[in-house]
Amino acid sequence: MIDLRSDTVTKPTLDMKNFMLSAPLGDDVFSEDPSVLELEEKVTRLSGMGGALFCPSGTMANQIAFGLNLLPGDQVLGHPDNHVYRWEQGAIARHWGASYKEICTHNKNNSLGILDAKDFESFIQPDDPHYTKTKLIALENTLNFGGGRIYPLGKIKEISSFAIKNKLFLHLDGARIFNAVIESGVSLKEWCAFFDTVSICFSKSLGCPVGSVLLVKDKEDRKKAVRLRKVFGGGMRQAGILAAACIYALENNLDRLKTDHKRAKIFGETLLHNSLFKLEYPVETNMVWFRVKKNAKEIEKRLAEKGLKLLALTDKLLRAVFHLDVTEEDFKKSCELVRLVKM
Ligand SMILES: Cc1ncc(COP(=O)(O)O)c(C=O)c1O
Repeated sequence: MIDLRSDTVTKPTLDMKNFMLSAPLGDDVFSEDPSVLELEEKVTRLSGMGGALFCPSGTMANQIAFGLNLLPGDQVLGHPDNHVYRWEQGAIARHWGASYKEICTHNKNNSLGILDAKDFESFIQPDDPHYTKTKLIALENTLNFGGGRIYPLGKIKEISSFAIKNKLFLHLDGARIFNAVIESGVSLKEWCAFFDTVSICFSKSLGCPVGSVLLVKDKEDRKKAVRLRKVFGGGMRQAGILAAACIYALENNLDRLKTDHKRAKIFGETLLHNSLFKLEYPVETNMVWFRVKKNAKEIEKRLAEKGLKLLALTDKLLRAVFHLDVTEEDFKKSCELVRLVKM
């Protein structure tokens, strides 16, 4: 079975597992796990941020970031399709008592999840006890519910200036930031320079079984983040066995993302030969989101019967994601199947 539902379905390779087996370990709740410390040090250096914290999941890393900066009655501004809002159970309200204002683009022809600074302008609440306090803007890069597209650096710069001017924190859900780094040639440091907090996932396109890192701006925030992780039950003991997989991925799995991106683009071009399909978004990284008139679930079922798993997100929308466990043969077969499938 070829599984293109998500880049989270990968299994650690033998080389990654061997690397994990030989990792030096300690108790990370005592800050004594050498492998966790090495990963956090490496990512801090690569990102130019003030500190890093190893977390079990992207959701936890995102939520700790919000906990650092929000109080009950505060308000977050962000696109309705951001993972932190759409796919985290309303956790911003649940954990921190803050609300989330859905911001859509002013430009309907470009309503693909990417916002401009001016889209936020009319949403800053006045300093008045009747209102919530606007505190933070949340962005995502690459955009999952935006077809894996890269948030343009120029727009991030403008939003960052706007956030600074209005004394707002800026958070990046960078679950797939390395896809943006590899595709754009813009370094992790350059992307991170505009944010107060950044979360990065290693269990998505980088092929690790578990693991995310939260990047923060200074030591004080890292200390607070350690407390928040603990209350989430995220204080892990010999977590170095997991952190080692992330170190391995940083050393071995970054460049190969180009292959996923190339395959996704070819897959996106191939499916256009089938009159059933239209691309939902231009393909920029490892994801292909495409539209059918109806019965996406039926297409999902037919392809699965032939050995290809895709994800039907709605009755009209399908997703294919390329990743480390897809062989060249799988890739060619998946193109062929999607080109020929009929309703
Ligand atoms: C953009 C984005 N952010 C955050 C997450 C959450 O990561 P996790 O599943 O590790 O909690 C995901 C998961 O797919 C994601 O796609």
